[in-house]
Amino acid sequence: MSEATLEAAAYGVVPETGMDREAIIEALKEKKANDLTDLARVYGYTYSPGGETEAVAREAYMMFLKENALDITSYPSVMVLEREVVRMIANLLRGDESVVGNMTSGGTESILLALKTARDYTRHHRPEITEPEVILPRTAHPAFHKACAYFNIKPVVIGFDTTTYKADVAEMRAAITPNTIMLVGSACGYAQGVIDPIVEIGALAKEKGLLCHVDGCVGGIHFSFMRRMGYALPDFDFTVEGVTSISADMHKYGYAPKNASIILYRDKSIRRFQIFACGLTTTYALVNPTMLSSKSGGPVAGSWATLKYMGEAGYQNLIRRLMDTTKILVDGINAIPGLRVLGQPDMCMFSFSSDEVNVFQLQYEVKKRGWYIQPQFSTPLSPPNLHISVIPPVLGNEEAFLADLRGAFEDLKASGNHLDFGMVKEQINGLIAGLSEDEAKERLQQLAGMDDDMPEDFSMVNTVIDGLSEDLRKFLLEDYVNQLFV
Ligand SMILES: Cc1ncc(COP(=O)(O)O)c(C=O)c1O
Repeated sequence: MSEATLEAAAYGVVPETGMDREAIIEALKEKKANDLTDLARVYGYTYSPGGETEAVAREAYMMFLKENALDITSYPSVMVLEREVVRMIANLLRGDESVVGNMTSGGTESILLALKTARDYTRHHRPEITEPEVILPRTAHPAFHKACAYFNIKPVVIGFDTTTYKADVAEMRAAITPNTIMLVGSACGYAQGVIDPIVEIGALAKEKGLLCHVDGCVGGIHFSFMRRMGYALPDFDFTVEGVTSISADMHKYGYAPKNASIILYRDKSIRRFQIFACGLTTTYALVNPTMLSSKSGGPVAGSWATLKYMGEAGYQNLIRRLMDTTKILVDGINAIPGLRVLGQPDMCMFSFSSDEVNVFQLQYEVKKRGWYIQPQFSTPLSPPNLHISVIPPVLGNEEAFLADLRGAFEDLKASGNHLDFGMVKEQINGLIAGLSEDEAKERLQQLAGMDDDMPEDFSMVNTVIDGLSEDLRKFLLEDYVNQLFV
């Protein structure tokens, strides 16, 4: 292969002549060098149990890779598979025959659709509302804020109980105005793995004649099986009066390949407002049940195959092991003096904090020992913390992880290398006092070391971002990503 062609593989150039297959695979392997590839040491992101389940899902996905779900008349098989997946998940979430839904590309698309549908449903039924508001607990996923930004809805953020991390329903009631269109609860929230009081939120929505969305993206499928296994859980699904839509992701604890999620509605009279058609142009009549138009049948087939291959027994076996492991991790972390788990997680995911060390530095110490756990910022009601999602590939490694976490924590304390949140915040305020907004942003980026190269150690970036006002946080994060991508 010519030097020029090899060079083209390394940089963003279309090669003069095509590279050969082996060279392409080799180049792609090299590009993965800095990825989180040792999945047994990564507490998040990859939910697949691997083995035969993954092999079956992969085969199904590849069988439908080229099928275009855009056209249900040309590819009726994809619609049939989608209907079956939707019905399986609606049944798990105890919906009756009137519950309907669609497959989407992920939790974010499902949430975007739930809010767009709520906005348009309300526009039709309550046209007097011109400035719609959705009430969101602080623990709700950022996708709700994205939906509000996209669809011109005002997000009204309410608090949570700082011990249990459950949404504060009294505050939700007080936040309702004549413009409110929807209440939101999570089952569960990602950050702490806690289920909101959905029965109370649903009852409030019913009382006030509002729509009510339950975000079951990460927990909906898992909790449904847990309930069938006899675990004590509060109700969060379609048995709760007042709940009008639920999102549930197949590509998380449904174990299907990405991109696969499900958005469900109480009935077709609501779902009607999700669908978009256009017959006004010179091209084909466009009819889209969800946001994407052309889309691969792969995720639909992958989801169908995963559900059918794993079966109830497959899910239950895995869930039992995940929940047992979560208990070991939660107890183990709470047993390290100086670390504490936040709230009481219902799910196989949770977070922990510390008053003794900077948790973002702790995350880096743990990373140096070969483990990935995820930093989460403080809010007005919660401290900076580290998140753990217990997923199939990490099963069996909990004792090794706990030993390394303890070692990392002790070493960090002993090192005296303490990046103090309060001091960094003070430094930030001093640094930007009297500067114009643009100057302030530039100085903050310099302080955090946010440039074109991603640092190995993100603790300074994270500590600076944590110390900023909500507006500056948002700006800096958006601007950083704008810098990173070409
Ligand atoms: C509770 C919850 N909702 C929504 C989402 C967004 O899902 P996605 O990343 O598939 O868009 C997530 C992602 O983790 C989540 O945990």
